[in-house]
Amino acid sequence: MPVQIIVGAQWGDEGKGKIVDHLSEKVDIVARYQGGANAGHTVVLPAKKGKKEKEFVLHLIPSGIFHPHVKCVIGNGVVLDPVALMTEIQQLKDAGIKISGRLLLSHNAHLIMPYHKMLDAARERGAEKIGTTGRGIGPAYNDKYMRTGIRVVDLLNRDVLCKKLKRNIEASNELLSKLYQTQELDVDAIINEYQEFDRKFDEYITDTSEYLNAALKKNKRILAEGAQGALLDVDHGTYPFVTSSNPTSGGACTGLGIPPTSIDSIVGIVKAYSTRVGNGPFPTELKDEIGDRLRRIGGEYGATTGRPRRCGWLDAESLRYSIRVNGIQRIAITKLDVLDEFKEIKVCTGFKVGGKKLHHYPTDSQTLDVVEPVFKTFQGWLTKTSDIRNYKKLPKEARQYIEAVSKMLDTSIWMVSVGARRDQTLMVR
Ligand code: GDP
Ligand code: IMO
Ligand code: MG
Repeated sequence: MPVQIIVGAQWGDEGKGKIVDHLSEKVDIVARYQGGANAGHTVVLPAKKGKKEKEFVLHLIPSGIFHPHVKCVIGNGVVLDPVALMTEIQQLKDAGIKISGRLLLSHNAHLIMPYHKMLDAARERGAEKIGTTGRGIGPAYNDKYMRTGIRVVDLLNRDVLCKKLKRNIEASNELLSKLYQTQELDVDAIINEYQEFDRKFDEYITDTSEYLNAALKKNKRILAEGAQGALLDVDHGTYPFVTSSNPTSGGACTGLGIPPTSIDSIVGIVKAYSTRVGNGPFPTELKDEIGDRLRRIGGEYGATTGRPRRCGWLDAESLRYSIRVNGIQRIAITKLDVLDEFKEIKVCTGFKVGGKKLHHYPTDSQTLDVVEPVFKTFQGWLTKTSDIRNYKKLPKEARQYIEAVSKMLDTSIWMVSVGARRDQTLMVR
C-alpha cells in the first residue's frame, strides 16, 4: 500500500478527520494536499485514566498527529496561514502531543497573509457572496496563480520576504480602498510580524516532495488527506460555489509532488445523509423539521466557523458523479447513527428537470438549483447503533440501507462509522 487517498465525496465535513485518525494506526505518514485553515477536521480521542474523551478540531495539521509513530506533512498544495499554524501547534503541544520531528512543512506551500483575509471578507460583503469561511483561501490561491504569491521558502530570506510583502500589501491596499472602500493595512506592522515566522517554522520546513518520494522508495505507507469535498472542487464542484483548490483525488499528486503511479487506492468518505455550509445548489436540502432534526442529532454546525450546516437526504446522483471524478474504489459511510431515530430515510436516486429524467450530471449551478430529486424511501431501524462493533450485528434495515446505497453507487462499502470516536468504526467484509 504505497499511497491511499482519502477524499470527501460530498460538500465537506463528511468525517474525514475521524476516518484518517482511525486509519493512521496502520500508516507511516499522513499528508494534507490542498486547502488551508478553511478545513475543520474533528478527531475525538478516547477517554484515558479517569479523564473524559477529548475533541480536537484540526485546521492545517494532518489528522494522523495523534498517533506518535506517524509523520505529518503539509504539502505544497496547501495555503498556509502562519498564525493559524502557530496556534494549532501550541494547542497540540499544550495537550501533550509531540510535534518536533513529526511535522514537515513544504517550502513550496503558499502563505496566507492578513490582506488575503481582508480581501476575502470584503468580497463576501458584495452581491456575489458565496459564503466562504473567511480564511483568505480564494485570494491566496489567486496570488498563487497570478504568480505573485509568497511561499514558505520566502520566510527564510528576509530581504525577499520584505520586498514581496511590501509589493503585495500595497497592491491589496489599492484594491481594498478603491473597490471596497475599507481601511488600509499597515505595511511595516505586517512585515515586522511576519518576518519573525522564519525562526518559528525553520525546524519544520523542508522539501516534502523529496521526503515523500524517498519514503515511497522505502515502501512506507502514506495516507493523503483531502480537505473539503469533491463537490467543492474548483474544477469539478458546483462552481462558482466552491473552494479554490482541488480536493478531488488528482489534487493529491500535484499538491504533494508525488507521481500518479504511486497511488494505490482511493477511498471516498460519505456521510449517511448530506450537508453543505455556505451558498450554492443543494438538490436534496430539507428546509423543514426533518432537516432541523438531522442538524440537531448530527450536531451539524461548522467545525471552523460554527455556522449551522444545511442538511438533506443522501444524494446518490451527486455521489455517482463524485465517484467518477475521483475514481473512488471504496467508501466509508459515516454518521450512520444519526439516522437511528428516523422512521423513514430517503435517498435521491436521480434528477428530473421539467418532469424529464436527466441523463448527465449538470455541472452548472443554475441547472442544479432547479433539478427535482427523485427519492427512494427506506424503512428506518429505530435502534441505537453507536455501541455496535460488528457490521453483521447492525439492524437488518440499516444493513439494507447500506447495501442499497452500495448498489446504487456501484461501489463497495469498506467501513461504517457509528460515532465520532475511533472505536466506533465497523469494517464491512
Ligand atoms: P471533516 O471536515 O470531514 O473532518 O468533518 P468534521 O469534523 O467537520 O465534521 C464531522 C463531525 O461529525 C465531527 O463533529 C465528528 O466528530 C463527527 N463524526 C464523525 N464521524 C461520526 C459518526 O460516525 N457519528 C457521529 N455521530 N458523529 C461523527
Ligand atoms: P472540511 O475540510 C465544508 C465551503 C465554504 C464555502 C466554500 C468556499 O472541514 O470538510 P472557502 O473559505 O474555502 O473559500 O469557502 O467552501 N468550505 C467548506 N465546507 N467543509 C470544509 O472543509 C470547507 N471548506 C470550505 O463554506 O461554501
Ligand atoms: Mg470539517
